[in-house]
Amino acid sequence: MAGLSSLAPVSSSVPNLGRLRQFVADMSDVVDQGDDEAAILAAGKVLLERLIAVDDWLPNEYARPHPERYQQYLLHCDSRERFSVVSFVWGAGQATPIHDHTVWGLVGVLRGAEYVESYRRAPSGFEYSAPPAVLQRGEVDAVSPRIGDVHRVSNGVEGGVSVSIHVYGANIGAVRRATYVPDGTPKPFISGYANTHLPNLWDRSK
Ligand SMILES: [Fe+2]
Repeated sequence: MAGLSSLAPVSSSVPNLGRLRQFVADMSDVVDQGDDEAAILAAGKVLLERLIAVDDWLPNEYARPHPERYQQYLLHCDSRERFSVVSFVWGAGQATPIHDHTVWGLVGVLRGAEYVESYRRAPSGFEYSAPPAVLQRGEVDAVSPRIGDVHRVSNGVEGGVSVSIHVYGANIGAVRRATYVPDGTPKPFISGYANTHLPNLWDRSK
């Protein structure tokens, strides 16, 4: 069988899921070391930057936009729900409402760009905690109740599709959290996921 891999056709249509599998293994190592949030965010940022540096691993079905709303596809959830990995897919003009997370999160852009508006509480609801910013392809941002947990995210590419990879310190689709109207009134929500099947990271035959 020697040389088989060198004979394999090179095709961009075959996703390199080994990259995501390695990321999951490395993130498991990070959360195994304890629940120091600052340490998790620092180590996780390096790993996520590495994951999104090459765009050859995300299967097309988890990068598919919906004509009306952004999509949140679960790619992997840790068996103890210590972290989850999600692809967010933004069609033209799509945006989240203002929302919180209640757990740490890392946001990295795989394709296109993400427009991020970060908020903090103010007497009349929320105000920007920083000037709105465009997160470019390859860049990673962080959220958490400790460092700032409320934001609104939208597609940063006019007329195109953007894809970002998010990592959260829980099974994020099952977390009870809130969206907010501009006056600060919370509306409880549990996001769930757009997909019913997950990518198979565990076929190592190729
Ligand atoms: Fe968010």
